Amino acid sequence: MIKINLKHIEFESEVSSFDMKLIQELEDKIINKTGKGSDFLGWYNWPNDYDKKEYSLMQETAKALRNEIEVLLVIGIGGSYLGARAADNMIRGLYSKDKVQLIYVGNTMSSTYINQVLEYVSDKEFGIANISKSGTTTEPGISFRVFQKKLVELKGKEVAKRRIVAITDKAKGALKSLATKEGYATFTIPDDIGGRFSVFTPVGLFPLMVAGVDTDALMKGSQKAFNDLKSINNDAYKYAITRYLLNVKYNYKTEFLISYELQMQMFTEWWKQLFGESEGKDNKGLLPSSCIFSTDLHSLGQFIQDGTKNVLFETIIDIKKPQVDLEVPKDDEDLDGLNYLTSNSFHEINQTALEGVIEAHVNTGQVPNIILEFDKMDAEMFGYSIYWFMRACAISGYLLEINPFDQPGVEVYKKNMFKLLKKPGY
Ligand code: PA5
Repeated sequence: MIKINLKHIEFESEVSSFDMKLIQELEDKIINKTGKGSDFLGWYNWPNDYDKKEYSLMQETAKALRNEIEVLLVIGIGGSYLGARAADNMIRGLYSKDKVQLIYVGNTMSSTYINQVLEYVSDKEFGIANISKSGTTTEPGISFRVFQKKLVELKGKEVAKRRIVAITDKAKGALKSLATKEGYATFTIPDDIGGRFSVFTPVGLFPLMVAGVDTDALMKGSQKAFNDLKSINNDAYKYAITRYLLNVKYNYKTEFLISYELQMQMFTEWWKQLFGESEGKDNKGLLPSSCIFSTDLHSLGQFIQDGTKNVLFETIIDIKKPQVDLEVPKDDEDLDGLNYLTSNSFHEINQTALEGVIEAHVNTGQVPNIILEFDKMDAEMFGYSIYWFMRACAISGYLLEINPFDQPGVEVYKKNMFKLLKKPGY
């Protein structure tokens, strides 16, 4: 479902002749859990091993909640929210008319934003999915306090109890004890799966179930990817090797993930977190950035084409089949001079732009381009591509000899903030 195309990479032959013994060694470290961060490899077999009983229970709970609400507030930050939001946008689009809208809070402490959401939901039937593995993260923690109180104030304790779901560690953390005390339904984030690798756990699945997304198809996609990646001669590892060579041998510093679909924007945000938080350590790693074209062709496109050379390369997500296509209408007068386009559909024009831009960036701009051909843009494709990128990221991190599964740098800001806020113990 994802095919890598390296025809615009000058050193393609170096990718094909890369030391596959090394890749096998790294793969063995993942499978045998002998590499760095091996306590966090639960995601690897998860497409097959996921807890089927919990999955059914989640479906039941989500169905009941879906019948009762118009808005689900998804409270979480980082890996505890980006996957659900990426799927929501990629699969349902930006203006879904589905009966349940997902609104994301807990990823900001902007009083302006939180107040706006408070006002927005105050005349709506809403529920809350409170998601935090540690159960102690400040941003979602204080947001939950605000929205829990609002729900209780509007609907009373009993309704609030029915409409609040906690997704957290099985035993530890403030959220777990709070949920137990209040009697909220609780789903578990496995110990050995870190935030940004947790999309296929209740973290990603529960909000998507409430949103009516076909999570069976999504999981099927992840299983398909698992099967397609059984041999180490796979496209995900080819992608990892190519970006590794671009970075370490050819000294490129930034990778732009590009999509021509606006509803893939949050997917690129999820990808940025996956690679940024996994690889950006020990003074190593590519800086992950992203663009949506045509939008950004009229802003960063200038820099990519003509700006500082040899710092960035592009990875293009080329979605072959749009969810829906559109004809360019004919106009008898042709005052805007656009009738020449009416023999093409919008998707065909978008694809032509993609080809023209690749040509311009690669040949004139001298910017290497990796192309990832995606079959389509639906739940199955989402599950497939998320698992595909996770596998690429794990190998990529091991090629850099870092631990792809921790995030020690994130703690620095937290400590400073706690000290300044006079949190007890800091
Ligand atoms: O990928 C990660 O581990 C992080 O981005 C976490 O998901 C994020 O910091 C949120 O943590 P928690 O789920 O503990 O609130």
